[in-house]
Amino acid sequence: MQRLYDISWEKYQTLSLEEKSVYLMQDDNSPYHTLFAQQFDAQLLGRLALLANEIRAIGKTRSGTEFLKSMVSHKRAMLYFSQPSSRTFLSFKSACQILGIQTGEVRDTSISSEFKGESKDDSIRTFSSYFDMIIMRTPEKGLAERSAWNLSHTERPIPIINAGSGPDQHPTQALLDIYTLLRSFEKQGGLRNRTVVFCGDLRRGRTVRSLSYLLTNYPNIRMIFVAPDELQIMQDVLDTLKAKGVEYRLSHDLRAVIPEADAIYMTRIQDEWDQSKGESAKIDTHLYKIGAEEMKLLSPRGIIMHPLPRRDEISTDVDNDPRAMYWRQMRNGMWIRTALIAMTFGCEKRIHEYFRSNY
Ligand code: NCD
Repeated sequence: MQRLYDISWEKYQTLSLEEKSVYLMQDDNSPYHTLFAQQFDAQLLGRLALLANEIRAIGKTRSGTEFLKSMVSHKRAMLYFSQPSSRTFLSFKSACQILGIQTGEVRDTSISSEFKGESKDDSIRTFSSYFDMIIMRTPEKGLAERSAWNLSHTERPIPIINAGSGPDQHPTQALLDIYTLLRSFEKQGGLRNRTVVFCGDLRRGRTVRSLSYLLTNYPNIRMIFVAPDELQIMQDVLDTLKAKGVEYRLSHDLRAVIPEADAIYMTRIQDEWDQSKGESAKIDTHLYKIGAEEMKLLSPRGIIMHPLPRRDEISTDVDNDPRAMYWRQMRNGMWIRTALIAMTFGCEKRIHEYFRSNY
């Protein structure tokens, strides 16, 4: 097994994401670091979904909850979130609580030593002195990856989970999105032969980048990217889909594609990345929204997803429609993140054993 310790940073950077993945996994193909979606294949995604299902079943009883709490009660995790977050932060924190992990957090770097001029690399090395895992969200694209490499060359190498790296990737959001799709289509033949529509700010939405990649692990998934030209998906994502033989097309017309959709993945305008103030507001986005009229066009078994937070791209009238999946999707995030952390710390087998002997 190759480890980050075995490769120079210069050499590592020349590798493709698939090649880099080899350095981030444990011997049993569980992730050690979780940095990008390319680390997960259908088999690993299935393992995580199964583990999440078992954890949520075990968590329904007091004795099960106590068992889960004893899983990793000897570990501590640092939540380093220097970008805004509600769901991802809270679901990771809850996931840690479920497994008995104590957490520390930095959410506002203006009250950390970064304010005194400490480099992010030094801050992260500091966290590694006190904690056994770092879960991090930052505006910089490559910081989680660089930190994983840096720490692997110290006396305290600890796992890093990327909870959102700038506009680049959000691998654990993609895990919860896949988990939601797997559960939604479980009784209808599974996640295969489906059409997934992505709509909104596809250019700067990191969740779309990560999820569109994960979907390439499943057979015959068609993707339709619906956005105004200024916000359309980036060419590198399309090149990857092409190389993997995935069928896709681009569109400007949400209403026209809704009848074909098994799942519609809505996203908000990511205007925090605007180069000049008010730039996004000038883009006409009124056709890229879901309301009661659009829901009439969606098949009775179709689902609406959203990583949240939303603005007005999904009207609140849709919230109580059984096809609105975004609230359940959010809760799925807590369970799949619990499964990921449990797997990272080598608890998969013990959870299966407990499940088998109690359910
Ligand atoms: C997403 C993100 O941070 O990329 N939110 C989340 O983690 N659920 C989506 C967004 O902010 O639009």
